[in-house]
Amino acid sequence: MMPDSFAAALWIGLSALNVVLLVAVLVILLLITRQLKRARLMRRKMRDHVVRIRADIQKYDKKLGRRFDRSIWPQVESLTSLYRLLDGKIDLPPTRRWAVSPDFLWHVAESIRRHAPKTIVECGSGTSTVVMAHLLNTLGQDGHIYAIENHVPTIDAVRAQLRRHDLERFVTIVAAPLVERQYPGVETLFHWYDLGSDAVPAGVDLLIVDGPVSTANELARYPAGPELFPKLSRDAHIFVDDTGREDELRMLRWWRKLYPDLGIRHLAAEKGCAELFLLDRKIEDYLPREWRHSASAPPSS
Ligand SMILES: C[S@@+](CC[C@H](N)C(=O)[O-])C[C@H]1O[C@@H](n2cnc3c(N)ncnc32)[C@H](O)[C@@H]1O
Repeated sequence: MMPDSFAAALWIGLSALNVVLLVAVLVILLLITRQLKRARLMRRKMRDHVVRIRADIQKYDKKLGRRFDRSIWPQVESLTSLYRLLDGKIDLPPTRRWAVSPDFLWHVAESIRRHAPKTIVECGSGTSTVVMAHLLNTLGQDGHIYAIENHVPTIDAVRAQLRRHDLERFVTIVAAPLVERQYPGVETLFHWYDLGSDAVPAGVDLLIVDGPVSTANELARYPAGPELFPKLSRDAHIFVDDTGREDELRMLRWWRKLYPDLGIRHLAAEKGCAELFLLDRKIEDYLPREWRHSASAPPSS
């Protein structure tokens, strides 16, 4: 090859290489720009996500705060008040879940302190039984609790706790299996405690309705009305747990139809609490004659 043509070929070769290098650099720059754009977009998206998550956390925080104020805090206050009333010497059994909540217990405790009931009947035993026995003991009252219960492990647990705290003299556990019951005019097949006629004495001053378990059937605790109201004393107070549930509210409406003179006061409690009392204190006068000594039904639902 001639030196001139060699130089020309070299020049062409180098120029081509330069072009290739330039294109390569341009492609790399393009790719980098694209990646940068993508990264910026992702950063913006991440920032939006963080803003949204922060807003969600704030919202959830507020919700939790409201829940805490409405539910947890009243439990803390009620428990503190209960411990104070019980002299702080007693360790209370667990509350909530299956058991009553402290706010419900506090309403009952206030009633016991104020009215010193002699005969207390409870449908559905557990923590409430033990706390009421502690109260009778600490307040020096001579009341007695008839705790109606069908669930054998609960009966054993309550007995053990009463024994441990030397409170057995305050409680008669009425162990009674659930049996089928039907009331005239109502289709529902109820499951109610198999109580003999004298299992619970007459003259009940305080009735706590927290059993049987709500899954037994709809309006599971409705029979407490026809079965136990005729045993109430004139100044009786009735506390119904779980009135935050539609079933219990319906039950209250049915009872109201049966006993129009029943006063109902809704009290603040996380699961709902209703205090019932007899407005004219003469329940036997307005119970229909045929219902007075037998199971009864509401006029219609
Ligand atoms: C709401 S609980 C009664 C709670 C009771 N008043 C108290 O303060 O602990 C209603 C009924 O649920 C039943 N029960 C309680 N604990 C149970 C458990 N761990 N498993 C199944 N049934 C249970 C018992 O028959 C109890 O009477």
